[in-house]
Amino acid sequence: TTVEWEAESYDMGGHDTYMHKEIVEQVDAVDRVLRGRIDDRFATVRLGGLNLDAREARTMRRVKILGCGSAYHAGQIGAQMIEELARIPADAEPASEFRYRNPVVEPDTLYIAVSQSGETYDTLAAVQELKRKGARVLGVVNVVGSAIARETDGGVYVHAGPEVCVVSTKCFTNTAVAFALLALHLGRIRDLSVADGKRIIEGLRKLPGQIAEIMEQEDHIATLAKEFADAKSMMFVGRVRGYPVAREASLKLKEISYIHAEAYPASELKHGPLALIEPATPTVAIVPRDDLLEKNRATLEEIKARSGRILAVAHEPQEKADDTIVVPRNEPELDPVLMGIPLQLLAYHTALALGRDIDKPRNLAKSVTVE
Ligand code: AGP
Repeated sequence: TTVEWEAESYDMGGHDTYMHKEIVEQVDAVDRVLRGRIDDRFATVRLGGLNLDAREARTMRRVKILGCGSAYHAGQIGAQMIEELARIPADAEPASEFRYRNPVVEPDTLYIAVSQSGETYDTLAAVQELKRKGARVLGVVNVVGSAIARETDGGVYVHAGPEVCVVSTKCFTNTAVAFALLALHLGRIRDLSVADGKRIIEGLRKLPGQIAEIMEQEDHIATLAKEFADAKSMMFVGRVRGYPVAREASLKLKEISYIHAEAYPASELKHGPLALIEPATPTVAIVPRDDLLEKNRATLEEIKARSGRILAVAHEPQEKADDTIVVPRNEPELDPVLMGIPLQLLAYHTALALGRDIDKPRNLAKSVTVE
């Protein structure tokens, strides 16, 4: 209830900032979003309150995910997971853009609004516009009973607990895991096999322990961050599953360190942004051991050839990178959940090295309840 949240949310638990507390809390937060939802018997999940029956789940022809900022980036990860596991065409776009482009609202499309606070004006207004047009709208929300949670027809609570820091960390991760649960649920109603359902469940169960493993690298990441603190601009690149990870990592760095950063699909670099690569502009590359590994390694060579400094986030050290943060391997579909976590710590320690006000960065609000 809100009262319990009030008490917990103002106790920093011995951390210097709420952001650090909330990054470290992800081990327990991810455990919470999984708790009581896994159904081993049918290799699927139970999502009480989703309010989407199997017939609808079988007949829907598209999923459109709407959110702002980190919620939008988590929605991009969710869209990828839904396409991969449920084979339903899915995409994400900023809620603010959606509302102003006179969208074609289709009856066989499931709309999903993503919001930590459940009060973001742009996202709430998009939900209200969709409801006005008779669309089916679910919510992936953190704050129970919030405006978006009440306005939507059902959905999935992400159970991250109170997120006090203005920038989102544990809620972002829990939202990505909530989408993995939704994608598994939809997939097992449609054509995802028992074997694949079990494979994803096994991967989900490993997440809390693997997040704890990543936290053990904090000192290494803090050392790296000090080297980036004097950068004027940084580039974040990733392919397919790695691209939303790059976008969210770039936003985290901008929000709290005030260093300019851009995220690009790695394959896009050669079409222009490569002109920005120089020793003073470091690049962070997301390089999972998936079927794009060799293409991502080629990107590292492209950057190295132009003497850009590279930090790779990967499953094993990358020889073309100056440094690598190694992340535990999980199922490829769940890689985005883990690969972004070290980059939350990178942004945190970069901002710390610059003496920034990490919990209350300039110009920003926790929930943007105005247009
Ligand atoms: C995230 O670090 C930012 N604080 C911001 O982008 C946030 O994600 C966005 O304003 C959406 O907020 P919501 O999830 O509460 O709707």
